[in-house]
Amino acid sequence: MSKIAKFKIFRFDPESDKAPRFDSVDVPYADGMTILDALFHIQDHIDPSIAFRFSCRAGVCGSCALHIDGKYQLACETQASLGLSKRVTIRPLAHLPIIRDLVVEMESFWKQYKRIIPYLLPGEPPPEKERIQTASDRLKLDVLVDCILCASCHASCPMTASHEDYIGPAALVKTNRFAVDSRDDALRQRLNIVSDDKGVWRCHTVFNCSEACPKDIDPAGSIANLKRLSTRHYLLKPDSR
Ligand code: SF4
Ligand code: F3S
Ligand code: FES
Repeated sequence: MSKIAKFKIFRFDPESDKAPRFDSVDVPYADGMTILDALFHIQDHIDPSIAFRFSCRAGVCGSCALHIDGKYQLACETQASLGLSKRVTIRPLAHLPIIRDLVVEMESFWKQYKRIIPYLLPGEPPPEKERIQTASDRLKLDVLVDCILCASCHASCPMTASHEDYIGPAALVKTNRFAVDSRDDALRQRLNIVSDDKGVWRCHTVFNCSEACPKDIDPAGSIANLKRLSTRHYLLKPDSR
């Protein structure tokens, strides 16, 4: 007998629905099936109107992050077998407006992200050939460069829920990524951006972000480092890095 994976899926079209609802859906299970595969099955064979986001299907693009079975996970990396033993609830990312069903409006997330100037700002003058980085300096970027901007940290953080102007953990991970990059020369510029109550000092060290991150990046650790740098920058040694 074929196995059935059971799901309860958040549905809402703000243009036509008065309120959100959860649809119970049963999907024929195949070995190795992911939650994203199950959503494709639903769209192809059960309800073509269901909306969800994806791109790479390989845990790289960050577009399929959803609240699955009580925690944030990438749909393309989470096994649908979860739904064999119980009905698994799937919801969109929290704290962002719903466009439709599992698709959220990411504009406010990207707006905060852009504030920290999310690209390398190297010092002057430019080198004759290349900016050399030692192996130990490169090691400092490990894990931080794995951020796929899935917004799971943002959705899990109570401060992004209550303070729309909080820059959020994903932007702060990126700030820290450049703070520890030996080739970057814009630490002060970025500390000026994040060292206020819309930046690092809005974080109440709740740690939801570190628990939610599917890439084990520990945003709370990045924020702690930025708080340390910010304190040193403003209070102790303005010239230190
Ligand atoms: Fe996603 Fe982790 Fe990056 Fe946050 S830090 S956006 S949870 S990959
Ligand atoms: Fe939010 Fe993470 Fe800070 S959950 S409050 S950004 S430690
Ligand atoms: Fe790209 Fe899942 S589809 S991370």
